[in-house]
Amino acid sequence: MNRINVLDKAFRLYIPQHDIENAIQKVADGINTDMRGKNPVFVVVLSGAFMFASELFKRLNIDCEICFVKLSSYESTHSTGNVKQVIGIGRSIENRNVVIVEDIIDTGQTVRYALDYLRQLGAADVKISTLFFKPKAFQYDYPIDYVAMNIENEFIVGYGLDYDQQGRNLPDVYILDE
Ligand code: IMP
Ligand code: MG
Repeated sequence: MNRINVLDKAFRLYIPQHDIENAIQKVADGINTDMRGKNPVFVVVLSGAFMFASELFKRLNIDCEICFVKLSSYESTHSTGNVKQVIGIGRSIENRNVVIVEDIIDTGQTVRYALDYLRQLGAADVKISTLFFKPKAFQYDYPIDYVAMNIENEFIVGYGLDYDQQGRNLPDVYILDE
């Protein structure tokens, strides 16, 4: 399937599953080396990161814990603009080594928020892993420790990522074709 439609938009194949999973293996290799003996807590950012998380965790051979959070963004009625709320980390991460697991870093705002939140909860150290990174869209300067794949500044769907909640189940990644 080289071309698909999701809702009202046309997409073309961009990254096949096999290439994605080779890249995830490299991230796993790095984490296995760096985090051995540190018993990290992985914090998966729902919903988009579920497929990345599943493939990553199967490849880890270190002691670790896994939990999930959901970040929701909306326009505030106040002049502060965009407000984000975190739902349900549900355990103490005080003095722990934490690794954020994200689907994609675009402007970087979501992960900026997650970093601050996890540090406030007393994490000893917070590292970042992401399946996709758009370097041309990134507006911050914090380091991103583990990137599976750098991509163009274009809209993609599949492998957990959605277009208007559709397409998360696609095993390959598709790019908007206009
Ligand atoms: P950021 O806060 O600008 O870095 O955007 C991050 C969030 O926007 C991600 O967690 C995704 O949910 C969503 N997002 C950004 N780019 C894409 C894309 O190309 N496809 C689908 N979702 C995206
Ligand atoms: Mg997301």
